[in-house]
Amino acid sequence: MIDPCTNPPTLPLIAPSILAADFANLGDDCRAAMDAGADLLHVDIMDGHFVPNLSMGPAVCGAVRSACPDAFLDVHLMVTDPQAYFKPFADNGANLISFHIEVVESAQHAIDLAGEVRELGCRPGIVINPPTDQRMLMGTLEAFDLYLVMSVHPGFGGQAFIPEVLEKAEWIKPQLQPHQRLEIDGGIGLATAHQALDAGVDTLVAGSAIFGKPRADWGSIIERLRDPRVR
Ligand code: DX5
Ligand code: ZN
Repeated sequence: MIDPCTNPPTLPLIAPSILAADFANLGDDCRAAMDAGADLLHVDIMDGHFVPNLSMGPAVCGAVRSACPDAFLDVHLMVTDPQAYFKPFADNGANLISFHIEVVESAQHAIDLAGEVRELGCRPGIVINPPTDQRMLMGTLEAFDLYLVMSVHPGFGGQAFIPEVLEKAEWIKPQLQPHQRLEIDGGIGLATAHQALDAGVDTLVAGSAIFGKPRADWGSIIERLRDPRVR
């Protein structure tokens, strides 16, 4: 398993969002995405409260872990009470667990929660929504291994990319150390990836742009996402 939170990647990392996979063939789709060159798998967890949708629970994460023993699982908690779910996801194969800055009380609270994630043997990540002021992250910029900028309002796949969020990426990037990843999530595809990469993002989440296309094309899509100017 390759841990993305060590050295800076030489090429952008591609994290297919399994929310857009065929749930009736989830293990197969996950294996095919990894075989097509994905660097990690992005697992979207929605509680029907923080976002107006439900997606999957820890057991589904465990099933993905069984199907792909060597895949790095990047679990994105879109939930109001993330602390309640750290252990269930750590026990079900998560490698990284991220939660939203919008649900914490203070920078110190975020840092404390990051420590809890580390104690469970996972890497902590923090996520920021489009309308949230990036200054909410002040004081947390050493505590996390991954900073995730949402480029759609979370809750659903297949939405249009919001370019205004790139300001957040540009603000975060110079404050990070080499082992810290800067990820973007929502509306990323061949038409938008270059904007995110230019803003300093190094890890691209893509759901419908990969799983929404025929499986035979996934390898070339992943390669082109890494370098979207090469057509
Ligand atoms: C949105 C999720 C995303 C989503 C991305 O709430 O966090 O990960 O699956 O899907 P696309 O790439 O289709 O916008
Ligand atoms: Zn996500």
